[in-house]
Amino acid sequence: MRIDIVSIFPEYFAPLDVSLIGKARERGTLDVRLHQLRDWTHDIHRTVDDTPYGGGPGMVMKPDPWGEALDSVLASDEGTPRLIVPTPSGRPFTQEVALRLSEEPWLVFACGRYEGIDSRVMAEYGERLPVDEVSIGDYVLAGGEVAVLVMVEAVGRLLPGVLGNVRSVADDSFAPGAMANLLEGPVYTKPPVWRGREVPEILLSGHHGRIARWRRDEALRRTSANRPELLADLDPDTLDKRDREV
Ligand code: ADE
Repeated sequence: MRIDIVSIFPEYFAPLDVSLIGKARERGTLDVRLHQLRDWTHDIHRTVDDTPYGGGPGMVMKPDPWGEALDSVLASDEGTPRLIVPTPSGRPFTQEVALRLSEEPWLVFACGRYEGIDSRVMAEYGERLPVDEVSIGDYVLAGGEVAVLVMVEAVGRLLPGVLGNVRSVADDSFAPGAMANLLEGPVYTKPPVWRGREVPEILLSGHHGRIARWRRDEALRRTSANRPELLADLDPDTLDKRDREV
């Protein structure tokens, strides 16, 4: 997968050099290209923002550098990417969205700062490509960079060969299938007793059927405690009689 990121702070993306995503880049599974938006300005101050029409606080990112930057990124003849614009006003980023994006060959992320990017940019590129305005949660960050780090990690770990153990994706909280709308329950490793606290006996039993049942019960309990609103959205077809008793 190719990912282009346009930002006035490309240095924000240093974490993409390490760990799973860093290794995927070294292997060539992920081709991440960072671009400095200011490279497409033409004044001495390399200006990317201006005051909002209609008044109000803050500054808005000017369309001109964005148009030149995106035209330049799109010019490399590799088909049509999907343009993702992180903004608290966007549609929620969920595991389902991450999974859908992981199937795309090419993503372009446009990181806004200040009060956001002049809306004509999204209108203009929306006529040429799929454009998604996406929010990572109901809070306001100082800019889109951290949101893009979140999305690149969530999408990148779903690419074939990025995780050592493919099974762990299926067991994730929110994974489609058995874990849809469920939070993953508690996990344990060695030693079997730590500070007098024992690992639940069932996990040492070797009884795979009962362990799976226990894990599902714990997932249901944790979801009920931490995210009760998710339980209401559980697909009734995925529930069995035992689930209803938890
Ligand atoms: N930019 C600022 N806040 C954001 C959020 N919550 N999600 C995505 N982009 C953002």
